[in-house]
Amino acid sequence: MNALDNILNRVSARSLTEPHPTQEEMDIVFKGALRAPDHAWLRPSSFIQVTGEGIDRLSEIFEEYAKTVPDIKDEIITKYKNAPYRAPMIVILVNSVNEHPKVPEIEQKLSTAASAQNILLSLNALGYSAIWRTGKLAFNPFVASKLNLKVNQEILGYIYIGTADGTNKKIPQLDIEDFVSYL
Ligand SMILES: Cc1cc2nc3c(=O)[nH]c(=O)nc-3n(C[C@H](O)[C@H](O)[C@H](O)COP(=O)(O)O)c2cc1C
Repeated sequence: MNALDNILNRVSARSLTEPHPTQEEMDIVFKGALRAPDHAWLRPSSFIQVTGEGIDRLSEIFEEYAKTVPDIKDEIITKYKNAPYRAPMIVILVNSVNEHPKVPEIEQKLSTAASAQNILLSLNALGYSAIWRTGKLAFNPFVASKLNLKVNQEILGYIYIGTADGTNKKIPQLDIEDFVSYL
């Protein structure tokens, strides 16, 4: 796939199904993720790949979290519990903040966000689809501790991965003049 076509035509999938990428393909995807811009090469990004029984474990963690929320409705507990089953594979985006005199925390998070975009583009180039999700289960210390993250680590989001099920969303045609100014 042409590199610019990949950028211009990538779209997040509404619904995801099998097949998901092979480990060989995911190794390429993670290599791409680690080519994100990274001030001072602090390596703030890391990833947890979740499939199979890992999806069941994530579902248990999400349910456990839901049950800690005061006055939560049963339907919301079920929604959290079912969330990981929306795709055959998930990559959890983890950001590690390290003290640095020239690289503030925000820059380290921006680097991990850039790695997420590299993941989306690499998956698209390999013929798969994905969607980046956050919600209450991201930036969530309870879920982070259940995943054994360290105190300087945070979940920035979840990339749900698989093959697009159904038709893709139409890509919005935006007028660049509405978004770009010239000096
Ligand atoms: C940081 C971040 C968090 C997001 N969280 C969610 C989310 O929790 N749920 C959701 O449906 N879309 C979420 N999105 C949006 C989708 O990933 C996607 O970008 C959006 O549906 C637009 O589709 P497109 O990527 O094809 O333009 C998030 C996007 C970003 C960048």
